[in-house]
Amino acid sequence: MALIDVHCAPLLVRYRAGIFSRASLFTLACLLLTCICPLLIAYRSHGLWPRTASYVEQPRVTFRHEVLLMLHLQQSDQFLAWSTFQNLNGMLGDSLRIPLVKANEEDRNRDGKFDVLHFSLEMPLASSEVVLSADLLLTFSYQLHRMATVKLQGMMYASHSSPLPGSELHVNGDLMLTQRQPLPHRGLDVRYDVAVINGSSPFTEAYDIPLIIRAYQERNVTTRLDNSVKVWRVGSEASNSFRIAVLLRYPEQTIVYQPGFWEMMKAGWVQYVSILLPFIWLFTRIKDFVFQNQVLSTIPKHPVKQHHA
Ligand SMILES: *[C@@H]1O[C@H](CO)[C@@H](O)[C@H](O)[C@H]1NC(C)=O
Ligand SMILES: *[C@@H]1O[C@H](CO)[C@@H](O)[C@H](O)[C@H]1NC(C)=O
Repeated sequence: MALIDVHCAPLLVRYRAGIFSRASLFTLACLLLTCICPLLIAYRSHGLWPRTASYVEQPRVTFRHEVLLMLHLQQSDQFLAWSTFQNLNGMLGDSLRIPLVKANEEDRNRDGKFDVLHFSLEMPLASSEVVLSADLLLTFSYQLHRMATVKLQGMMYASHSSPLPGSELHVNGDLMLTQRQPLPHRGLDVRYDVAVINGSSPFTEAYDIPLIIRAYQERNVTTRLDNSVKVWRVGSEASNSFRIAVLLRYPEQTIVYQPGFWEMMKAGWVQYVSILLPFIWLFTRIKDFVFQNQVLSTIPKHPVKQHHA
């Protein structure tokens, strides 16, 4: 009758040696090398775990209906201004002029988050007035929820000037998040849930655009107008208004964050074990060779047939 292998099992040979023998020291050294070499390799190649990670999220953005507008006229020291802040409007005197403003936000994919802002503003002009530059500042509430809950107030600043008198300024761009440091992976971050413009201040400094921007840029997490195209439409001498049209998208953002403890452990463990396996294999082969050939003297104990009592 032909025989086939129905099962195979290895026989375990025990090699015994004294605690302080050379064979024991050799085994200990192999064990340490097996564990430590993967660590060294992992550290040499960008560390064992990532310091930062990133994810993609569509932020929840809403326009706060706060506006600061400044139009410079051809007559060098003249300007027209308007804002949604009563304190500032009260200080503007003759330069204050009220425009017609329209704003609406649109949720294009119906996910409950706005995707785009349409903002337009029409400033009436006297026939002698010619606009050469425009500054516009809008503020936003900005929230992230997927990892940490981050609430902040951000802004968009658009400015354009031209030697040619304008009748329209079109701004088309994205509201992007800028991070100077990774965000936390959990918890609540309201460090920058602070008004960009202090509307309760009675001082002109609070509404000075360079000062607002200077204070704002100190923040580690901000929003700004990016990927923007501005079109300055040259007007005829007789145009009786200046129009600004803004189309601002709120795109998905790639958020950089600080991974939590378990996420770092998982990444570290996966990396460590995958480098460890070849070392275990290698050192097992080395020990097999050393002990089977009695390079270091040990007492081999071969398996004997088990007799049941
Ligand atoms: C805003 O201005 C008022 C008046 O100057 C001041 O009392 C208040 O502390 C300011 N608020 C912030 C958040 O700076
Ligand atoms: C802003 O970032 C800098 C550098 O990362 C850090 O030293 C500072 O503490 C941060 N400020 C706040 C308010 O978190």
